[in-house]
Amino acid sequence: MASASQRAGQVAAPLAAGRASVPMRRQQRREAQRSRRHLHIASAAAVDAPAAAPKLSEIEMWNGNKRLQTVVADVAPNTITIRSLDWDRDRFDIEFALQEGTTYNSYLIFGEEKTALVDASHEKFRGLYMRTLNAELAARGRKIDYVFVSHTEPDHSGLVKDVVEQFPEAVVVGSKVCLAFLSNLIHTPFKSQQVKGGDKIDLGGGHVMEFVMAPNLHWPDTMFSYDHATNVMYTCDAFGMHYCTEDPFDSELAPLEPHYRFYYDCLMLPNAKSVTTALRKVKDLPFEIIANGHGPLLRYNVPEMVGRYERWSKAIAGAPASVAVLYASDYGFSDRLSQTLAHGITKAGVATEMADILSVDPQELVEMLGRNSGIVIMAPPSDSGEARAAVATLLSAVKPNKQKIVVAESYGGRDEPLDSLVSGLVAAGVEPLMDLRVKDEPSEALYQLFEEAGTDLAQALTAKEAIAKKKAAMCPDVAKALARVSGGLYIVTAAHNDAKSAMVASWVAQASFEPLGLTIAVAKDRAIESLMQVGDKFVLNCLGEGEYNATIKHFLQRFPPGADRFEGVNYRLADCGSPILNDSIAHMECKVVSRMETADHWVTYAEVSDGQVSQPDKRTAVHRRKVANYY
Ligand code: FEO
Repeated sequence: MASASQRAGQVAAPLAAGRASVPMRRQQRREAQRSRRHLHIASAAAVDAPAAAPKLSEIEMWNGNKRLQTVVADVAPNTITIRSLDWDRDRFDIEFALQEGTTYNSYLIFGEEKTALVDASHEKFRGLYMRTLNAELAARGRKIDYVFVSHTEPDHSGLVKDVVEQFPEAVVVGSKVCLAFLSNLIHTPFKSQQVKGGDKIDLGGGHVMEFVMAPNLHWPDTMFSYDHATNVMYTCDAFGMHYCTEDPFDSELAPLEPHYRFYYDCLMLPNAKSVTTALRKVKDLPFEIIANGHGPLLRYNVPEMVGRYERWSKAIAGAPASVAVLYASDYGFSDRLSQTLAHGITKAGVATEMADILSVDPQELVEMLGRNSGIVIMAPPSDSGEARAAVATLLSAVKPNKQKIVVAESYGGRDEPLDSLVSGLVAAGVEPLMDLRVKDEPSEALYQLFEEAGTDLAQALTAKEAIAKKKAAMCPDVAKALARVSGGLYIVTAAHNDAKSAMVASWVAQASFEPLGLTIAVAKDRAIESLMQVGDKFVLNCLGEGEYNATIKHFLQRFPPGADRFEGVNYRLADCGSPILNDSIAHMECKVVSRMETADHWVTYAEVSDGQVSQPDKRTAVHRRKVANYY
């Protein structure tokens, strides 16, 4: 990716600054600013740190205890962001596990002739956002001429209706799918312009906006917009993270990294092929700032962060199997539940291809079904002609005895009955592996069930190859030698709201004195992995020598998705809500501080905050193995 400022021979390329230390970067930016002022260079490139300090609104409370605020900041010449800060949004949705709130980022571009708004905000910000938007427009004597809608999920489009009601002359610009979704959302007529990849809209003063279609990141409606004047690329969900700070930019990379990765794993990894396609489409655009829809904008680490998307997406491309996940976008909980299932599948190293059953091209669907060994079908709305046609295509294209299928309800109020989907599949020669029913609005435990079902499906698809691969991965003598590395025997327990889980662990070691800390290696496809993200708390239960058989046997059994792993087990709850097993000889309460990735495990470093020895005369059981290349 060439830097526009480098090409133009301008000062202080920002991308080089991204590799320097933070204080050095700040110094470089200040020097670049001074130098630019001195030379009176009217740069169009968006390379300098913004001159004005961000403007914060007052805080409003939502639902009694959730803080909402807006912040306005300069992004580039004639370009500002209005970020809606949702400080206390919690982890109910799959990708919110890291508990740092989120932001919904919206942008105003003031061209010489026209003003464009890129995305809006969540409707919970109605008063705050509209006041802030109107103040910024009034300060410049502007109105909105265009609304570029990158994606129609309500966290970005919830206030588009309010904007077009206030500015009825504004033209709403989006992909074909986006405008179809919007017409269901905004029940009054509005002016619109459908765009496709490569189309441009000139706002004046060099602000020529070019559109890039980026379907499935993470809905079929998604598009990026690129401003040729400022080299800012607007990407909505892509390259985002759920991380709420006043700092509009990625000034400090380290605290953002786990959030960026987790968000990618939940939302983008299930669409890795689409990520790779989108990266290919933008590779010749010299973007320098990524104006995303959530979290800090990427300004100082763009090549690094784009490179990570590329690496992570390529890594899953070599997966031994893949699953087609058919969901109904903008219908019930189909989208969230299918993402959770897909996340469970990718945790086990299997790739996914997601498609919206309401808008997928029939030929594309046939090809997708032909190349995937697994299929997930989220029940579509029963009154949709498109869905009926897609289900008919599916039933004629499935391969008896060759594909594993999971069907699941979407809890949309008018789901195609699961029984009729199942009987259709059975008639087509395929018995579904699982059918997942949803009786209430999804809770954290239900999301956990869906994730575990995804992992089970992936493991069923790769079971034979996985065992063979593990056995072949290491020379037998080395495997026997490494098995001489022994550890204790423990049960890790973790809980969050109504979701809880446990696993047997033996790869545990003390890792620090001050504070007291330890590491635990957690296989990526373990169910408990989702409850052991940075900031999560868990309990490490030590098992006693000679008396652990029943406990180990219980926790080593293969639990079906959503099963209560603690049924029949005696325990009490620690302060953090995780179970302390009555049979443990000691326990520790721990908080995850960081995670290091290996090929198939996360090495989880945690600080120990509390603990107790309940049987002082007992020693911890030791796990002695014969070989090290599988459990
Ligand atoms: Fe941030 Fe898919 O909405």
